Amino acid sequence: MSQSFRLGVAGLGTVGSAVVRMIARRAAPLAAASGRDIRVTAVSARDRTRDRKLDLSGTAWFDDPVALARASDVDCVIELIGGSEGPAKATVEAALAAGKHVVTANKALLAYHGTSLARAAEAAGVALAYEAAVAGGIPVIKALREGLSGNAVSRVYGILNGTCNYILTRMEREGLTFEACLKDAQALGYAEADPTFDVEGFDTAHKLAILTSLAFGTAIDVDGVSVEGISGVKPLDLLMAEELGYRIKLLGVAQATEAGIEQRVHPTMVPKSSAIAQVMGVTNAVTVDADAVGELTLIGPGAGGEATASAVVADIADVAAGLVRPTFGRPTGQLRPAERVEMQRHEGGYYIRLTVHDRPGVAAGVATRMAEREISLESILQRRNTRAAASDPHGRSGQPVPLVLITYAATEGTIRAALEAIAADGLLAEAPQLIRIERD
Ligand code: NDP
Ligand code: HSE
Repeated sequence: MSQSFRLGVAGLGTVGSAVVRMIARRAAPLAAASGRDIRVTAVSARDRTRDRKLDLSGTAWFDDPVALARASDVDCVIELIGGSEGPAKATVEAALAAGKHVVTANKALLAYHGTSLARAAEAAGVALAYEAAVAGGIPVIKALREGLSGNAVSRVYGILNGTCNYILTRMEREGLTFEACLKDAQALGYAEADPTFDVEGFDTAHKLAILTSLAFGTAIDVDGVSVEGISGVKPLDLLMAEELGYRIKLLGVAQATEAGIEQRVHPTMVPKSSAIAQVMGVTNAVTVDADAVGELTLIGPGAGGEATASAVVADIADVAAGLVRPTFGRPTGQLRPAERVEMQRHEGGYYIRLTVHDRPGVAAGVATRMAEREISLESILQRRNTRAAASDPHGRSGQPVPLVLITYAATEGTIRAALEAIAADGLLAEAPQLIRIERD
């Protein structure tokens, strides 16, 4: 067997600790698969005194991860600190500048600096591997970059944030509050250090930007992703979705259109019968629509120490075996610039929940404003408001009641214009709720 492959692990939190344990536990099969003995020679974290339940004997400790990245007995730096700037970025840059391979799970770093880091890796002739950065334990990077390289991809979409899917699942099944579910997700190690990254959709946007680059051969453009999180989803929307034959998921969608590639993250109504609607809890799923294979869906654990370590260790084994691939599937000089598509141009079905004043002519007024813009309604649902009915048997009370519309395909610009006209007519008691529908 040739020389050992020596790892410097920067970050010993949820993922880093699991990686160190897995490398020890799987030493023999990893050596057999990669042809090299893989061992951790250096580690770094902030707090040296913390008991991490790890055997770190024979391992050098670095308070400074940049110094670890430059250490002479490290061949490959495993960056598991997190964050798009600061120590994570400095560590990866130092490693690449020193001609060391890098394996990371850091989607934020790649979303903002992926192209320049890929260029640095290319110049140094080393690997920049990041299987764990998207959908945790699902080998989706390999699938897109290698497994589907003969295909033209038209759409890639998925549930890319375990925390959001966990929260939406528990809210739907148990009727719990958003806050209680988020607390549990944090305790289980799924959430980011700043959980607004999860619930406001930014973590999904980071992952989507990476998938878009791989699927469409474009330079990463995270600022071109339109982002909406789940904090505005109400229990009533989950109930209405159920009644109308849908579930609500936070999806990241990248889709080739005539205008360019749409990149969007938003709560989405998906048909209850679709594969993606069955994905519950912290599980992630990625669906690829491509010309040769048709539709392909990968489902698996998207977060958590062990599942994420599984992807990190797979990258380590590849790099140890000498596999150095272009970071985003092709040399950085061949990545096309991304063309941004405004959300106003997005065309699809919409769920619209209006809170209207209960009185004659309101539903007709809403329908008129929709019809004026050629928006066709697929279903309309109005719940009986028992309080309003009791106060006025003629239905003229003016009390707020929900009116839910499902539209056929229309552009977002037209839908928003119709809603503005409805609001200007004084028909609304509250701002409307709008959720996009994604059909399989
Ligand atoms: P944690 O917050 O659990 O761990 C972060 C680690 O980085 C800690 O060990 C911390 O040290 C260390 N650290 C922070 N700052 C420094 C610094 N200046 N110098 C040295 N070490 C530092 O994060 P996770 O393990 O959850 O996440 C790591 C990465 O993996 C992130 O990029 C995340 O997005 C990604 N990821 C996480 C998943 C998950 O399920 N958790 C899933 C997929 C990807 P100390 O322990 O002393 O505080
Ligand atoms: N916070 C992320 C999630 C971790 O909940 O999916 C995995 O990237």
